[in-house]
Amino acid sequence: MSGPFERLSLTGKVVLVTGGTGGIGSATARLCAARGAKVAIADLDEAACESLAADIRVAGGEAIAIRVDVTDEDEVSTMVENAVATFGGLHAAFNNAGINAGNALLDSMALTQWQRSLAVNLTGVFLCMKHEIAHMSAHGGGAIVNTSSAAGAVGMAWSADYVSAKHGVVGATRAAAVEASGKGIRVNAILPGAVETRMFTDALGTNPDLRRMTEAGHPIGRIGEPHEVAETAAFLLSDAASFITGACIMVDGGFTAQ
Ligand SMILES: NC(=O)c1ccc[n+]([C@@H]2O[C@H](COP(=O)([O-])OP(=O)(O)OC[C@H]3O[C@@H](n4cnc5c(N)ncnc54)[C@H](O)[C@@H]3O)[C@@H](O)[C@H]2O)c1
Repeated sequence: MSGPFERLSLTGKVVLVTGGTGGIGSATARLCAARGAKVAIADLDEAACESLAADIRVAGGEAIAIRVDVTDEDEVSTMVENAVATFGGLHAAFNNAGINAGNALLDSMALTQWQRSLAVNLTGVFLCMKHEIAHMSAHGGGAIVNTSSAAGAVGMAWSADYVSAKHGVVGATRAAAVEASGKGIRVNAILPGAVETRMFTDALGTNPDLRRMTEAGHPIGRIGEPHEVAETAAFLLSDAASFITGACIMVDGGFTAQ
C-alpha cells in the first residue's frame, strides 16, 4: 500500500484478533493480513483458528492460531505473551469475542444468562485491554478496537444482559482511551448493527418475518456484511486513524440514526 493510502497499511504491525474465527473476526483477520499485518487469531475453537491461520498463510500472509477463553485471565495473559513471543511485539488488538447468551425479558432472565453475557461481552474486553495495555505501554504504544454493538447505544427488548454489557464496552473504551493516551495507545469501539454472521443467523432462527423486520429496521435497507465492519476495524487499528481515540463508531446502516 503506497501513496495516499500508505497510512492504512498494517505492514510491520502485529495484530491480535479475538473472536477471530467468527464472522466479523475472521473478515478482520483476513483484511489485516492482506494489509501487511502479522495476525494472531484467538478464539475458543483451536481447530478453526488453525484452519484460518493456514488459509491466510496460503494467501501469502503471516498468521498464528491461539486458543483462548477471554473470560479466563490466565489464558488472556498467555494469549498476549504468545503473540509477542511469536511475532516479537503487539501493536494492535481487536477485542471482538462476543456471545448472545439467550433472549429473555429482564424480569424473567436467569442470573446465569446475565452473568455469562457480562463475563464474555464485557469482562472479556476488560481482561484483554488490561494485558494488551500493560504490554503496549511498556513498548511504545499501540491501537485497540473493542466490538460493542448498536445495542451499546440504545435499549433493546429481550436482551438486557447484552445491552448492558455492550453499553459497558463503550464506557470501558472511553475510560481506557483517557487513561492510555499518554502512553501512546489509542482505544476505540465499533458499534455494528445487524451483520450476517453465525451469531445473527442463530438469533434469527428460521423466521423470515424476523429477517425482513430487521432489514427494514436499518435505514440502508439490508443487513451488514462482515467485511463492512472489518474495514472500519482495520482503519482504526492503522496509523490512518492516528488522531482518533475514545471514539465509538456506528457501523449500523443507520439503525441508531433514527
Ligand atoms: N452479528 C451481529 O449482528 C452483531 C451485531 C453487533 C455486534 N456484534 C458483535 O460482534 C462481535 C463478533 O460477533 P460475530 O457477529 O462475528 O459472531 P460470531 O458468532 O460469528 O463470532 C463470535 C466469535 O467469538 C468467539 N467467542 C465466544 N465466546 C468466546 C470466549 N469466551 N473466548 C474467546 N472467543 C469467544 C466465538 O467462538 C466466535 O468465533 C461480537 O462481540 C458481537 O457481540 C455482532
